[in-house]
Amino acid sequence: MTQGTALITGASSGIGAVYAERLARRGHDLIVVARDFDRLKSLASRLSGDHGVVVTPLNADLTSAADLERVLAKLRDDAEISLLVNCAGIGPNGPLLGSDPNGLSKMVQLNVDVLHSLTATAAHVFARRPNGAIVNIASVVALMPERFNATYVATKAFVLALTQALSAELEPHGVRVQAVLPGFTRTEIFDRAGIDISVIPADMMMDAGEMVDAALAGFDRGEVVTIPSLADVELWTRMESARKSLGPYLSLRHPAPRYRSAAIVAAKSHLEENVHER
Ligand SMILES: NC(=O)c1ccc[n+]([C@@H]2O[C@H](COP(=O)([O-])OP(=O)(O)OC[C@H]3O[C@@H](n4cnc5c(N)ncnc54)[C@H](OP(=O)(O)O)[C@@H]3O)[C@@H](O)[C@H]2O)c1
Repeated sequence: MTQGTALITGASSGIGAVYAERLARRGHDLIVVARDFDRLKSLASRLSGDHGVVVTPLNADLTSAADLERVLAKLRDDAEISLLVNCAGIGPNGPLLGSDPNGLSKMVQLNVDVLHSLTATAAHVFARRPNGAIVNIASVVALMPERFNATYVATKAFVLALTQALSAELEPHGVRVQAVLPGFTRTEIFDRAGIDISVIPADMMMDAGEMVDAALAGFDRGEVVTIPSLADVELWTRMESARKSLGPYLSLRHPAPRYRSAAIVAAKSHLEENVHER
């Protein structure tokens, strides 16, 4: 029995490759997307042999407009696709000031623009049916922006905000959305960025298999946001409820008193005095 087809970007290595294995094990047919076609082909033959599912390799450089369009067309046209997993992404090798601005823009293109195009297209397609699910790999750095490369942090904050906002919009259409926020996870991302993984404390580094299993457990529990390392979920719940409690105070007719200039305050009190005297 097929569970429907999952389209996974960034499936040639790391988190995406583990998702491919776990979803094949669950009975999903797969479309696996990345640039390295040889790796995708060997993944496809291994997973179809091991799990008896259909695995289609699709090589695409998602930062190429033509390649991205081929993947978007697949999402639009293949009625069997019911799950999109956005894993393709790149990381930084130091703070913003030490990084080439063009390289950072490339990161924004892949981590933000591409993920957004795929997510928005899947949202339209799935909402029309109506069913399907979208899993977006963000990062815990979205919650601690001061500690990491500013551009990378901002790309992951985008993914988190997009997913939370879409979850509210798509729920009535029967479409599930989940943001996964991994901490350090043992993958090639560090090699690719030129970072020596051994400088990261072993206690902070999760295996990709454990990370994806936790993310799938969170998905099965119906979570919109899954933070695999976080044992005390109350910490997240309290932060979310503090954020939501700001709601009534964020858009009002006048600025808060501390932002009113002395001139405006003086003019207002003069006006009030005049009204009072009359
Ligand atoms: N590892 C961590 O510590 C960590 C923590 C938090 C979040 N994340 C996020 O997890 C996601 C997966 O990363 P990972 O750790 O699994 O790293 P990874 O092993 O380097 O995997 C990245 C994947 O993205 C693909 N990719 C890169 N550029 C691409 C492009 N232009 N077009 C198409 N595919 C492209 C790569 O395949 P090809 O080279 O074959 O194209 C590869 O399959 C990323 O979004 C990352 O930001 C990772």
